[in-house]
Amino acid sequence: MGIPPRFIEELRSRVSIVSVVGRRVKLTRKGNEFWGNCPFHNEKTASFSVSDDKGYYHCFGCGAHGDVIKFEMDAGGFSFPEAVEKLAHEAGMEVPAVSEKEREAEKKRASAYDVLETVCRFFENRLYSSAGREGLEYLRKRGLSDETIRRFRLGFAPGGNALKTFLAKEKVPEDAVKAAGVLTFPTDGRSSYDYFRDRVMFPILDRRGKVIAFGGRVMDGSEPKYLNSPDTGVFSKGDVLYAASLSSAQAREKKEIIVVEGYMDVIALHAAGIERAVAPLGTALTERQIAELWKYAPEPILCFDGDKAGQRAAVRAAKRVLPLLKPGYSLRFITLPDDLDPDEYIKERGKASFEDFLTSSCRPLSAQLWTQLTEGKPIDTPERKASLEKDVRDALEEIKDASVKNFYAREFKSKLWELTSPYKAGPQKRGSFKKTARKAYADRFRDRPELTVYHPSLVPEKEEARMMLAYLLAYPDIAAEFLEELAEWDISEPKVRPVFSETLSLMAETPDLQSDELKELLKNAGYAEIFKTIAAETEILSKKRASPREIEDDIRKRLSLLKRKSAEAELKRLAEEISAANDEEAALLWERYRELLKAQAPLA
Ligand code: UTP
Ligand code: MN
Repeated sequence: MGIPPRFIEELRSRVSIVSVVGRRVKLTRKGNEFWGNCPFHNEKTASFSVSDDKGYYHCFGCGAHGDVIKFEMDAGGFSFPEAVEKLAHEAGMEVPAVSEKEREAEKKRASAYDVLETVCRFFENRLYSSAGREGLEYLRKRGLSDETIRRFRLGFAPGGNALKTFLAKEKVPEDAVKAAGVLTFPTDGRSSYDYFRDRVMFPILDRRGKVIAFGGRVMDGSEPKYLNSPDTGVFSKGDVLYAASLSSAQAREKKEIIVVEGYMDVIALHAAGIERAVAPLGTALTERQIAELWKYAPEPILCFDGDKAGQRAAVRAAKRVLPLLKPGYSLRFITLPDDLDPDEYIKERGKASFEDFLTSSCRPLSAQLWTQLTEGKPIDTPERKASLEKDVRDALEEIKDASVKNFYAREFKSKLWELTSPYKAGPQKRGSFKKTARKAYADRFRDRPELTVYHPSLVPEKEEARMMLAYLLAYPDIAAEFLEELAEWDISEPKVRPVFSETLSLMAETPDLQSDELKELLKNAGYAEIFKTIAAETEILSKKRASPREIEDDIRKRLSLLKRKSAEAELKRLAEEISAANDEEAALLWERYRELLKAQAPLA
């Protein structure tokens, strides 16, 4: 453990860094400083300086920098205590033994871990006793298997002072109990009492799997819903991610980690086999937690709830990460549909659907940030355009890494131009889709600015449009998932166009609309003729007898095929435009061209 800081200070002041460095590097004096060839990189001219006045070395070539201890560590390959020991020995100093106080603190931490482990077992045992029956029933009712309950070491805290009584019987010293934070010790002299009462207990483990705290949930609607341990010598809320130790294997293997909001979300995902989900403990994601996440995977996925609080948490995380960004490391964002949280989503739609959704709907940080910057901001006047540009610039300033910042600047500049220039492609041009439906999916649609900016026109062939309409009428429940993408279709056939649009409107207005209801509604709206128009396609479908999964796959395939064809056409058109444009325009068009190529790549 720690060598006292005062000793380190003393050592630094007594040892001459110039003489220590001079043993390894040939130095020449210039004024108060000494110069030589840097031992940390290859060079022919001396750009490495050392000064006893400053107590530091610095290389102007490679940036190597540090004090005498760091020099011994880096140049001599010693660990910190080894370097200190060696330098102290040479200076005739003795490294003091670890202080009594520190030894005490360490002992206290060790005993806190022991107490917490004992308490965790106590809560677990209670869950399976008659006192905990209500708790066990509660957990089972929420869909947890006995195996999951055991894996997460869930438990039950009885009412009264059951834990206090137990700890007394076990003769656990009061100091250790205090350090564990499991009883409340009033300051007014009254005697201590149980911190958690009548709650199902979620032990919180550190990265290594040691119990460091608890979260406890009430089983009725009372408040607070969750109670967490207070911060102690072994637990500080902002440093910990729930279930990190259980997630590390799969997260590292898949190079992916998912951050959700709550304990129950984590547990539901793990129970479904998605064993790479963690959660902060009910607070905003801290810088320390982001750094921790990056140890498992370079682009953690934040999957917060679709409600206001969840979305606010996402916005905050996107801002907080900007100064921390470095090449290759970022965050990704995903919002579950229909206001579901991950726990509910997994229960309603299953693991495969969740995994699919993850791969299909993750937004990179840049898209999330762009949405945050532009959402709800009119840019209909020069002043408003300038104001948006300023916001964009301010956000860019937050990014510390020069290279990451540069690429963000390029991307945002091109997006800004797209947004504010009169040249616009994409859905803004087409007014075919009903306003009501547009509004219904507007929120989700806004989350994909890259679609609105870089999407070429999607004009299906006549047969393809009819086939898709047949799909919609036969399987509106399955097709509903693709509503936004279908709304992008620009159908030219006059007979099909209005029905297609009306169908999407109806589907957007009424979730879970069934085939029969939909057909009825269309008939009532005066579109009975359409059933004749698409009779052939309808028959093909009914003969196919495809499973829901196959239907879904087929629809998806048709969507991406059209997207690809359209992108190809758009690329061709752009190439022509570029060859006719002046320099500045051409540069921006090229940017768009490359973006489009990129968007198209995974489909090819
Ligand atoms: P939620 O309210 O979303 O709860 O809080 P949940 O995880 O979905 O729980 P269930 O499904 O109702 O059981 C998300 C997280 O915020 C923290 C907890 O960590 C919780 O998991 N929280 C919430 C608290 O610390 N205290 C509270 O009173 C509520
Ligand atoms: Mn929940």
